[in-house]
Amino acid sequence: MDTIALLRQVSIFRELPEETLADLSKRVWQRTAEAGSVIVNHEEPGDALFIISSGKVKVVLYGETGREIILSILRSGAFFGEMSLLDRQPRSANVVAVEESQLLGLNRDAFQTHLTAHPSTALAILAEMSRRLRHADEVIGNLALLDVYARVARTIRDLAQTQGEPADGGLLIRERPTQQEMAGLIGTSRETVSRALNDFTRRGLLEMNGKQILVRWGFLRQLDEAA
Ligand code: CMP
Repeated sequence: MDTIALLRQVSIFRELPEETLADLSKRVWQRTAEAGSVIVNHEEPGDALFIISSGKVKVVLYGETGREIILSILRSGAFFGEMSLLDRQPRSANVVAVEESQLLGLNRDAFQTHLTAHPSTALAILAEMSRRLRHADEVIGNLALLDVYARVARTIRDLAQTQGEPADGGLLIRERPTQQEMAGLIGTSRETVSRALNDFTRRGLLEMNGKQILVRWGFLRQLDEAA
């Protein structure tokens, strides 16, 4: 496929007229990335934007022990490498080809000239960056919430073990702390405690009735196993 046809498939260039794509096609270069090869290295300076015309890449960070954290998988039509071009900071992550991939590249100067002349591309990049930030927000939120859920669950288990009376289906806590007190105990907000308790109730792990909580045997077993 010729370069113009490849560019036409890329969402950030979709709005562009034919002559602009033709102009852009003269400035992009093509490159093949073998499966497993590193295209962008975390913390190295970056001076090109990449567009995937075919194949698949992963955006990854590596922990101290080499553990891989995948931030995103990008497929044909997606772009990467825009962050270093925009803020002139080193690459924010590694980008590794998952399978053999055909890439189009645009150097810093060509990228900037194009964005200045065609704000629709800049807006499309911003929209995609917003989508990526939303996704990252969701991941961070889930991480924090899961952690808090675990803390709420542990508090419930401690209460059940110290104050619980055997009852039909589990251990009954007669006088539980208020949600505000529990929030203070585990360093979170009352709303989050409330959300966690409601979630546990919905999943049939707890039964709440005024100041009483019945902690089901299954929940206690689960918590013991997780401890
Ligand atoms: P840059 O920092 O230049 O090099 C690494 C690239 O990975 C980065 O630009 C983005 O294009 C891409 N990238 C970094 N973080 C994410 C993420 N959370 N989701 C999707 N792509 C990302």
